[in-house]
Amino acid sequence: MRFDRSAAAAWYRRNRARSRALFDLLDEETYYSRPIALRHPIVFYEGHLPGFSFNTLIKKGLGRPSIDARLETLFARGIDPHEATANKARLPGAAGAPGRPEGWPSRDEVHAFADEADRQVLDALLNADVDRPGDPLLDRAEAVFTILEHEAMHQETLLYMWHRLPLAQKRAPAGYRPRVGAAPPRSEWIEIPPGCATLGVDRDAHPFGWDNEHPALSANVPAFAIERHDVTNERFLDFVDAGGYADPQWWRPADWEWLQREAIAHPLFWERHDEAWHWRGMFHLVPLPPAWPVYVSHAEAAAYASWRDARLPTEAEFQRAAYGSPEGERQHPWGDAPPDAARGVFDFSSWDPEAAGSHPDGASAWGVEDLVGNGWEWTATTFGPFPGFTAMPSYPEYSADFFDDEHMVMKGASTATARELLRPTFRNWFRARYPYVYATFRCAR
Ligand SMILES: [Fe+2]
Repeated sequence: MRFDRSAAAAWYRRNRARSRALFDLLDEETYYSRPIALRHPIVFYEGHLPGFSFNTLIKKGLGRPSIDARLETLFARGIDPHEATANKARLPGAAGAPGRPEGWPSRDEVHAFADEADRQVLDALLNADVDRPGDPLLDRAEAVFTILEHEAMHQETLLYMWHRLPLAQKRAPAGYRPRVGAAPPRSEWIEIPPGCATLGVDRDAHPFGWDNEHPALSANVPAFAIERHDVTNERFLDFVDAGGYADPQWWRPADWEWLQREAIAHPLFWERHDEAWHWRGMFHLVPLPPAWPVYVSHAEAAAYASWRDARLPTEAEFQRAAYGSPEGERQHPWGDAPPDAARGVFDFSSWDPEAAGSHPDGASAWGVEDLVGNGWEWTATTFGPFPGFTAMPSYPEYSADFFDDEHMVMKGASTATARELLRPTFRNWFRARYPYVYATFRCAR
């Protein structure tokens, strides 16, 4: 596992080009807006991505001086969905220049800062000693992989925010239309035999993983049944039409209280227009596609499962269903071939989900489909450390701040998950009542 600096530089350039393309989807007037109330305004993220990379690799890793200490502090930390509600107190807010709240820089200032950060990061990737055995941040080039995966993950969280902006403030890429046509598959249960599932991996056994993926851990998983497909909009509509959002017996008390407080009566991605359900896509409002996986919070997924007299799979069951086989575990559900668009909807191959059942080439050894791609999958497992966990020096708060029994593990991938993140041990997590993410589910029993 030799560190390949030209591959790292190419990935960094690829990340920066994609981030630029995502910001280019938006009208200029959105720049200081805050599409999700708990998150920063959009300006923050354009500075945060290069700012985090510069701070982690150049300042902390290599000990080099600042570009602009004020901007580096301002852009230091995102309130990512995986970064909860920390840090709200010191956000700029009051009105400053017309259209620009006090404390935020102009877009030209952000671009000048980003250009210099990119220049220094790329120079370090190509020329500096960024792979130093025994160094806390640079052992196995940890800070390099940290910045590369950090930006890739943020691209997905940017899209959650873009999703909430008015459609008129976004420009769809030329020729893009949501792929809505297919008929929904039947509901079908698949029996998974008992066996072993790998949850964690030793740090030395792969080029990079986040601290919450380490160390090695495996679980014995008893036999269980799981649905072949994600729960579709059509199936979830049965629950809505049956009055599921009005009946407390299906909801955990805190989830029920959330429904009442927020007056929630349907999934956030559904909207009612002209007395018919529609799906709010990234760029289009479309009549509710019955075959698409429903996107819901963990609270809604769990309520639906209990209405079906079923439950959500555990993280270990997901691993067994996705990566297990009669011969041993695989690198991907479909085997060891690299990810490509035939295997599932991920790596920005679509701006919206696609029909359940449309990627049979991505099925696992047991025939379970879409486990990786087309929406993260909620599990019944609370996010926590594996025994022997230690926080990573390059980003010590990445996981440890969220071991609070409030965050639930999601596995798999969404349409907006980069291919570089598709490894069996990768874990994602959100609060149970956070409805903005591209997350779906399937039932187990
Ligand atoms: Fe971040």
